Amino acid sequence: MEVRVRPGRSLRGEARVPGDKSIAHRALILAALAEGDSEVHGFDPLDDCLRTLEALRACGVSIEMTSPGMLRIAGRGRDGLQEPAGTLYCGLSGTTMRLLAGVLAGLPFTATLDGDPPLRRRPMDRVVEPLRRMGARVEAADAGHAPLIICGGGLHGIDYALPVASAQVKSAILLAGINAQGETVIREPAPSRDHTERMLRWLGVPVEGDNGAIRLVGGTRWRGRAFALPGDISAAAFLLVAASIVQGSEVRVGAVGLNPTRSAVIEVLRGMGADVTILPTRRGADVDGPEPTADLLVRPAALHAVTLGGALIPNLIDELPVLAVAATQAHGETVVRDASELRVKESDRIAAVAEELGAMGGRIKALADGFVVEGPTRLRGATVDAHGDHRMAMALAVAGLVADGETVIRGAETVTKSFPGFFDTLQALGAEVA
Ligand code: S3P
Repeated sequence: MEVRVRPGRSLRGEARVPGDKSIAHRALILAALAEGDSEVHGFDPLDDCLRTLEALRACGVSIEMTSPGMLRIAGRGRDGLQEPAGTLYCGLSGTTMRLLAGVLAGLPFTATLDGDPPLRRRPMDRVVEPLRRMGARVEAADAGHAPLIICGGGLHGIDYALPVASAQVKSAILLAGINAQGETVIREPAPSRDHTERMLRWLGVPVEGDNGAIRLVGGTRWRGRAFALPGDISAAAFLLVAASIVQGSEVRVGAVGLNPTRSAVIEVLRGMGADVTILPTRRGADVDGPEPTADLLVRPAALHAVTLGGALIPNLIDELPVLAVAATQAHGETVVRDASELRVKESDRIAAVAEELGAMGGRIKALADGFVVEGPTRLRGATVDAHGDHRMAMALAVAGLVADGETVIRGAETVTKSFPGFFDTLQALGAEVA
């Protein structure tokens, strides 16, 4: 699918973003492992989250959509999932594969996780290694890739220092730790998103965390609850950058999750001079949840360059492609370092942003672990490719809003991974998108 974007119209109005993708995976899994029923409010049918939902169903969990956005999940207990009849299909979802690998490692049966070719190319050794150390038998294709065959059960806790700051790996180990004997300790090189720890605590499972060491003792059971998903800040980021660089804009994004391990994009944009105001959300909170939310109001501003690196990077890893677009409109040299993880996301995002923004006239140089952008530049419309990557498709559309002429985004259908209504949302705000 090709999407065409033209510049010149301001973005005005209110927008809603999907329920947070990261948190939705965890809500589904922890509800499936709870005792009794849970409700998940604010669930959007994102491709990735549907892969987790279907895999849990294949393990015997009953999950119903009782009304749009509302799921009822009949929990089977922390050790109550059933051996699936066939391969669990993860599509393109790295989070599904890594988190479920952790769950399955703790359960006494054999299950296979597989996905589409791009997912088979992503590194899984990072979960295979610690799960083996906990006592699971895990077979992977060469060099630690999917398909993963997991023969679980009989786990013991480990004390493990993560080689990369990865919330997916941390979560896989925590989920395995739930069904392991004794204490599991995870040491992070830099803080990554803490949705799993928060949700476990909120459900009554003690998870301690200090000085980068997270501790959980296996064996706790918990009851299901009703929880609401906040809007996805990583989806909102595209609208924040768009309204910051398109003249005459004013956009309010409702009920966005502002977890401090995810919200660095707001501080970074503000540091670049962006005009982002945080307001109390107007969405009536009928159910609770462990994540803070707020509305975000954004208006255009003159942006300047910024230097990003170190422990901040895991907090804004998914926002770096769209921050590269912001950097093309900012005065000065923006430098992003310590972000080599970008190379193993849905695409090699360092190569992809350099190639595609370069094709639009952006002055961007790829580094081994990041990129350098010289700004401001007047971008020009071009035919660009999403590289099978939802965040690339959306970042390029935002670039197209300030590029001369028409930008054609090839492979734009990939937005269904995290923000199916993205192009409709831009259009509803006034952008020329076809
Ligand atoms: C995610 C964690 C991040 C992020 C991904 C979702 C999660 O990946 O890039 O989009 O839900 O835990 P890593 O933890 O592998 O860095």
